[in-house]
Amino acid sequence: MSKRRKIYEGKAKVLFEGPEPGTLVQYFKDDTTAFNAQKHEVIDGKGVLNNRISEYIFTRLEEIGIPTHFIRTLNMREQLIREVEIVPLEVVVRNVAAGSLVKRLGLTSGEPLPRPLVEFYYKDDALGDPLVTEDHISVFNWATPAEVDELMAHALRINDFLTGLFYGVGIRLIDFKLEFGRLWDGENHRLVLADEISPDSCRLWDTKSLEKLDKDRFREDLGGLVDAYQEVARRLGIFNGKNTDGKTGPVLVS
Ligand code: TMP
Ligand code: ASP
Repeated sequence: MSKRRKIYEGKAKVLFEGPEPGTLVQYFKDDTTAFNAQKHEVIDGKGVLNNRISEYIFTRLEEIGIPTHFIRTLNMREQLIREVEIVPLEVVVRNVAAGSLVKRLGLTSGEPLPRPLVEFYYKDDALGDPLVTEDHISVFNWATPAEVDELMAHALRINDFLTGLFYGVGIRLIDFKLEFGRLWDGENHRLVLADEISPDSCRLWDTKSLEKLDKDRFREDLGGLVDAYQEVARRLGIFNGKNTDGKTGPVLVS
């Protein structure tokens, strides 16, 4: 790992001071955790795949007008990003019942929801990232009501776009988690998408076989995590050397 000044170390990533003021370097580790780090393993190659997949998704989102912290990829494990003030919320969007929603409400995993559901979790590892309501967010001033509206609008737009992107390569986007940050410009700020979008932060099921292509492979001890992430990258057309026709871009499935 590089010798730059470390700003923050999370479970799966490290942030270093960037080359210019207002920038940071986001380093993707191979560390894989679940259940608030009660389960931990280092899985060779995971960080490289998440760096590439997240770069691809953030770039596509920028292209449709979603502002993000992403500037450019620096190398296999690092991205140059804009320094933002992280909103202390995890924004989860769900299309199909799975994971904690199934446990909390006694639903059947795999049951499609009548419409996309947006949930907010307060980012606090010591508390286990509790589910919170819009009123909690307002009362404790984690974000203003106007910001919550903007988070919702961005989250639903990202969901529509990613659902289509993944559907085109034979993958169902079950649910995913987003983080946002405030990008300051003098007195003003705007909300931008931050962190990462990768199989670590999404549930991705093969459309036909329902095979899990995400971090549930680790959570549920299914094995084959790197193969699954590689398959996601390959289908998106971003897995170096394995695209049979040598082209880049999503691999369409019939
Ligand atoms: P959940 O069903 O465990 O609440 O997870 C919902 C989605 O959010 C799932 O795609 C995994 C993702 N997620 C994270 O990225 N980080 C987390 O800390 C948690 C709990 C979930
Ligand atoms: N919260 C993350 C997850 O399960 C990682 C962790 O909890 O350690 O997706």
